[in-house]
Amino acid sequence: MKRILITAELPGEGFRNIVSGGKFEFKVLSNEERLSIKKAVTDFRPHGMVTLLSDTVNSELIDSGPELEAVSNYAAGYNNIDILHCREKGIAVTNTPDVLTDATADIAMMLILMASRRASESERFTRAGLFKGWKPDLFLGKSLSGKTLGILGLGRIGVATAFRAKAFGMDIIYWSDRKAPENIENSTNARFCGFDELIKSSDVISLHLPYVPALHHLIGKKELSEMKKDAVIVNTARGQLIDEDALADALTEKRVFAAGFDVYEREPLINEKLYGLENAVLLPHIGSATEETRAEMAVMALSDCMAVLNGKKPLNRVN
Ligand code: DGY
Repeated sequence: MKRILITAELPGEGFRNIVSGGKFEFKVLSNEERLSIKKAVTDFRPHGMVTLLSDTVNSELIDSGPELEAVSNYAAGYNNIDILHCREKGIAVTNTPDVLTDATADIAMMLILMASRRASESERFTRAGLFKGWKPDLFLGKSLSGKTLGILGLGRIGVATAFRAKAFGMDIIYWSDRKAPENIENSTNARFCGFDELIKSSDVISLHLPYVPALHHLIGKKELSEMKKDAVIVNTARGQLIDEDALADALTEKRVFAAGFDVYEREPLINEKLYGLENAVLLPHIGSATEETRAEMAVMALSDCMAVLNGKKPLNRVN
């Protein structure tokens, strides 16, 4: 019987049904066992693995599982996996796109609203018992209607974010590796533009690109200095796309208005400076964190892993 190693317990009834079925031998790592995934791979010798975005699936880990045929990442992003090494060894890598599009776009829109309207800051103020009455200038934020949203990466989540922003009356421009099909541009009202134009003319910038080394610090000191002084930046993609230290400095010096983070450059470590900044909204990477979405992701990741082990084509192979 083929063996599947799952590096953490995943949510949902679908997941529990699959792992209690008898078609494969499953091993779900406990929190303690997670501390050494390599040892678990060496001991269990899995044919398939279901991994988290926080697991580093490098060549060393891959080579410790000589029978590996599939690595299914429980995430849309897969920059935690050495997919080239997997490809060289004939190991299929899969991810979980689509099912998390709306949940992640919701969080992007929520961060846009929270950062623009100073939601975290005013909530902290209220909880501290400081609300002593309505005032004309209490926590003035930025309107969204009529402002320009610059979307970096008009893939599935970028498109879903564009739809949400359109409903808030925003004008949308985007920069991507290629121009989107006309029907997407027409339905979202998104206009393709150059990277520099997007940086200089957006009131809000939202990142929706996958992380690849060529995009490391796509937003750095230079880009931050070129943005509008009142710009809002939101990142629900991957932390390494932004120079976090440079953004923390820009927020401290009020060279940008606010930023919303769901992801961090050295996750789970967060740049110490951000903790003290009222104009930074800090979420713990919850883009896809709804009960429904995480349950669907679990079934999708496992189904693709089992498909490969059964000699079938998985739905979401990325290498
Ligand atoms: C993913 O799945 O890659 C996202 O980061 C979820 O938030």
